[in-house]
Amino acid sequence: MDTGTTAVDLARLARVGGLVREEIVRAGGTIPFPRFMELALYAPGDGYYEHSPARVGRGGDFYTNVSVGSVFGELLAWQFLEWAEAAGWDRVQWVEAGAHDGRLASDMLAWIDARRPDWRDRVEYVVVEPSETRRGWQRGRLEPHAGRVTWVDRVPEGVRGVVFGNELLDAFPIERLGWDAGARTWFRFGVGIGSDGFAWTRMALSPGAAVPLPELPAVLLDVLPDGFVWECSPAAERWWSDAGRALAGGWMVAIDYGLTETEFFTPGRTRGTLRGYGNHRFVDDVLAEPGGVDLTAHVNFTRIERAGMAAGLGEGSLTEQRQFLTRIMGRTLDPASGFGAWTQARTRQFQTLTHPQHLGRSFRVLVQEKRVGYHAK
Ligand SMILES: C[S@@+](CC[C@H](N)C(=O)[O-])C[C@H]1O[C@@H](n2cnc3c(N)ncnc32)[C@H](O)[C@@H]1O
Repeated sequence: MDTGTTAVDLARLARVGGLVREEIVRAGGTIPFPRFMELALYAPGDGYYEHSPARVGRGGDFYTNVSVGSVFGELLAWQFLEWAEAAGWDRVQWVEAGAHDGRLASDMLAWIDARRPDWRDRVEYVVVEPSETRRGWQRGRLEPHAGRVTWVDRVPEGVRGVVFGNELLDAFPIERLGWDAGARTWFRFGVGIGSDGFAWTRMALSPGAAVPLPELPAVLLDVLPDGFVWECSPAAERWWSDAGRALAGGWMVAIDYGLTETEFFTPGRTRGTLRGYGNHRFVDDVLAEPGGVDLTAHVNFTRIERAGMAAGLGEGSLTEQRQFLTRIMGRTLDPASGFGAWTQARTRQFQTLTHPQHLGRSFRVLVQEKRVGYHAK
């Protein structure tokens, strides 16, 4: 529990715990894990991502690319303008989801003002934000850019530009399946009430249930250890494909830690990737304190890419963050690039973003393009 936990926090956590408990009782003793995760993170007003903007960043529970400093947003802004110019567009929409406290938007818009004022009135910044609470935080931070930012519930139809999110997809509820080697079948992890609080349960997968299964050859199933855990996020896949359908032309960009489907089946990773974070530390029991810690899992990039392709996007390019950012950085070294000087501060931030032991290797960037409507001004 946070060292700085207050009575207000305790009351909030009690409300989230109470909601989860009620649902479990109403459901007859167990709820699917994705529902537990949804309540823990997004219970209106009380969930982990609902109650304070300060959860992310230096004083919060974990760092993101955005909390490292402004250079992340500046490099993205430079890249997005390069794409728009190469496509021959004279206007573009940048649609960000998972904007949290609006910091990335603010970094990108401030860079345009400073370095590319010729695009100032030609970039429409759209924040996809279903939560009124978070919209409030974002409006506060983006006050200096009022009039240039709009808010929507979902990616609007007909977007021409870039739809993107930093650590968006890893914040969607996940499905967790376990392998029962004796019965040669997958089961679904659920959450029930044990003697000590919330506890894992096993839910049978009824034939025809709308729960995705990994596609594995029989020879692999023969050697898969009992209790092996596989994860994916149908909610994130739905979000990506809905956004892909809404995009009229341009790019979708997801920056997240994640794996390909094959990498989920690496020996040594038998317990899945779900984890909890609080105060920059791993939390062992992810069920212990719904609403009090961040819950997150690696994105299954293979399934996300496939969902995008079914929605009309092209094949994805998946690179480590260090490669993605280094390629952009290389081109910004040219003074004619308009990026601005590589000051010491920028260089230090860049090193953190690309160092393999910091964020450079664990984060990956998936880009999928929809090549429609280019050169139509
Ligand atoms: C891990 S945080 C990342 C925040 C920020 N992008 C950063 O990098 O600092 C994930 C954010 O995604 C938001 N989120 C989750 N589902 C969303 C959805 N369907 N639409 C928009 N935002 C969502 C969460 O509320 C949270 O603010």
